[in-house]
Amino acid sequence: MAKRLLIGTGVAFSLLFSPFSQAFAEEPTVGERKQVDNVAHRGATGYAPENTVAAFDLAVDMKADYIEIDVQRSKDGELVLIHDTTVDRTTNGTGKVGDLTFEQLRSLDAGSWKGEQYVGEPIPTFDEILDRYRGKVGILIELKAPELYPGIEEQVAEALTERNLDKPQNEKIIIQSFNFESMKKTNELLPQVPIGVLTSNRAHTTPEALQEFSTYADWFNPSYGIVTEELVKNVHSLGMKIGSWTVRSQAAGDFLLDMKVDAIITDYPDYVDPRN
Ligand code: G3P
Ligand code: CA
Repeated sequence: MAKRLLIGTGVAFSLLFSPFSQAFAEEPTVGERKQVDNVAHRGATGYAPENTVAAFDLAVDMKADYIEIDVQRSKDGELVLIHDTTVDRTTNGTGKVGDLTFEQLRSLDAGSWKGEQYVGEPIPTFDEILDRYRGKVGILIELKAPELYPGIEEQVAEALTERNLDKPQNEKIIIQSFNFESMKKTNELLPQVPIGVLTSNRAHTTPEALQEFSTYADWFNPSYGIVTEELVKNVHSLGMKIGSWTVRSQAAGDFLLDMKVDAIITDYPDYVDPRN
């Protein structure tokens, strides 16, 4: 809340007559349903291999509002996109992400486990994904297990800043993590970039916990199993937005639309379309 006010007062006048002022307009509605951001979880993961260009391109084709990406780091310091902290499940290799050099990671096949048509799909770098998708689609950046990668917050901040992606509403960028200390630090490094906290723990939904999150976060992003109307109301009353995950069925998508969350993070962008 405090962060939002700080940004608001600093840029309000310059934005008043700019094209970006639309970003601050009242939330659009579609029919009786509130507009919701459709976030493709690790890309359009229901159809293509997660955290690859194939999945991100498909998400763009499917008109997702954001792609969600998981950022980790190679042994020699390159930021790469992969969900698990080992390469075993989603590639033809074995070992911990942080124990492999970028050359080793890049030589792996991160696509064929999902289907023959994806053979040879590589693990992308953070830099190339920023360059490929900035301005085309929003990017929800998750710092995955940042406690394993000391200084990763500074590296991410540098990559965004050198592309001028650290300014409010410049392009749609959000940074989130399950690691709250990492998000506090990121908020200090990038005070104008929206921050999200991830949890599936009900203990994090108390008024006290939400109040603490609101001192540095703009988004409270819970798993859908702990979402209630009351939680959505409480998050909104503190000036935060709420994005929930992971939709893998039409019923889960419909539930979150009914809960009127602000973003739905889904493996299937087609399950979350309030325009239908
Ligand atoms: O964006 C929410 C979601 O990605 C958090 O869980 O495990 O899929 O990274 P996980
Ligand atoms: Ca994620």
